[in-house]
Amino acid sequence: MHKLRWGLIGGGEGSQIGFTHRAAAQLEGNFYFDAGALDVDSIKAKKFGKKLGLSEKKSYGSWEEMLEKEKKIKTSERLDLVTVATPNSTHFEITKSFLSEGFNVLCEKPLTMTVTEAQELVKLAKVKSKICAVNYGYTGYPLVRQMRSMVLNGDLGDLRVVFAEFAGGFMADSSDSDNPRVKWRFTAKHAGMAAITIDCGIHALNMACFVTNKKIVKVSSDFFSGIKSRELEDDNLSSFRMEDDVAGRLWTSGLAIGRTHGLTLQVFGSKGGLSWKQEQPNQLFWTPLNESTRIIERGHSSLYPSAQRINKITIGHPEGMIAAFSNIYKDLFENIYARKFGNNPSELSNSYPTVEDGCHSLEIVKAMKNSISLNGSWARV
Ligand SMILES: NC(=O)c1ccc[n+]([C@@H]2O[C@H](COP(=O)([O-])OP(=O)(O)OC[C@H]3O[C@@H](n4cnc5c(N)ncnc54)[C@H](O)[C@@H]3O)[C@@H](O)[C@H]2O)c1
Repeated sequence: MHKLRWGLIGGGEGSQIGFTHRAAAQLEGNFYFDAGALDVDSIKAKKFGKKLGLSEKKSYGSWEEMLEKEKKIKTSERLDLVTVATPNSTHFEITKSFLSEGFNVLCEKPLTMTVTEAQELVKLAKVKSKICAVNYGYTGYPLVRQMRSMVLNGDLGDLRVVFAEFAGGFMADSSDSDNPRVKWRFTAKHAGMAAITIDCGIHALNMACFVTNKKIVKVSSDFFSGIKSRELEDDNLSSFRMEDDVAGRLWTSGLAIGRTHGLTLQVFGSKGGLSWKQEQPNQLFWTPLNESTRIIERGHSSLYPSAQRINKITIGHPEGMIAAFSNIYKDLFENIYARKFGNNPSELSNSYPTVEDGCHSLEIVKAMKNSISLNGSWARV
């Protein structure tokens, strides 16, 4: 089997998410790190690229230069996948430019700043017949895939309530609110429609949709800024309804001191309930109706094939975020490889988060903003 060629934009030295992408993309030996424009500063970009082992001519000073040079390479030797890990406001332009030239793209979340831009990317990916994925990397955890399989196989019976949280204390220090690395996240110009909801809540919403395989149809929201100097919200409690009349609740916050990361999902049906926490990703808590809670361990042979397929490390050994992200890359690899060499990808590899998922998330956030302007009344997605 051949390796595929991979390029990275953003994720430069010291960035929050760059290391995870580089580690995850290469973890299973599927992708070869072939090109990059890793920093907004062209000198730093080239220097860091070379430090990571990129060749002189493939360590670019800007994404524009990377696109210009890479698009001239003959199709069979071109980059097979480009990851966009730059700040939010640049996602649309970079993703659109690479898709337009026929590259497959994995874009960081949020896909874009507006629903209109996201819809444009949905159309463009179709027209170009290219993969455009969005990095909801937490859906790559084996036990999140197990949750989805349990729900879709009816283990929980009729779904009733989904409770999604992404609430931590990471934005709670008011003395830090003038720090430029924090401040941009709470200004509409740089962050987009919302702050903590776009930064964190969007992961929890996507996970609720992924695990239930349902879309959100209406929302009722309460946005709050606990640090008063902030233009955008740092706390959001929302109710939502999903398809088939499933009730949902989201709490996302940067003010929850004492909670570290805070991404959790609970799903309750007529036959039982499931509970999973990102900080303890190798255990899933399953409580059948009228019975005691059991712990489902990642790596156990009784898991559904969706979870077994992406299990990497022996049961009982911690497997975390890098492995979860690498499972998104594994899905993408199988799909891109199949398209390139004409074989069929396994059905289970179609679990990666798509451009449509990225667009749906932004539609939900837009509806939340509408709900706020209606004093918290229900707003349709
Ligand atoms: N999926 C997740 O779990 C997750 C987690 C963290 C961040 N993110 C997303 O990843 C993106 C980056 O976040 P971060 O926290 O790493 O940001 P960061 O500010 O720490 O790093 C951004 C990097 O992008 C580079 N950059 C900026 N503009 C560029 C350009 N035009 N061309 C090339 N490089 C450029 C910067 O130099 C820097 O290296 C954001 O969209 C964020 O929402 C996702």
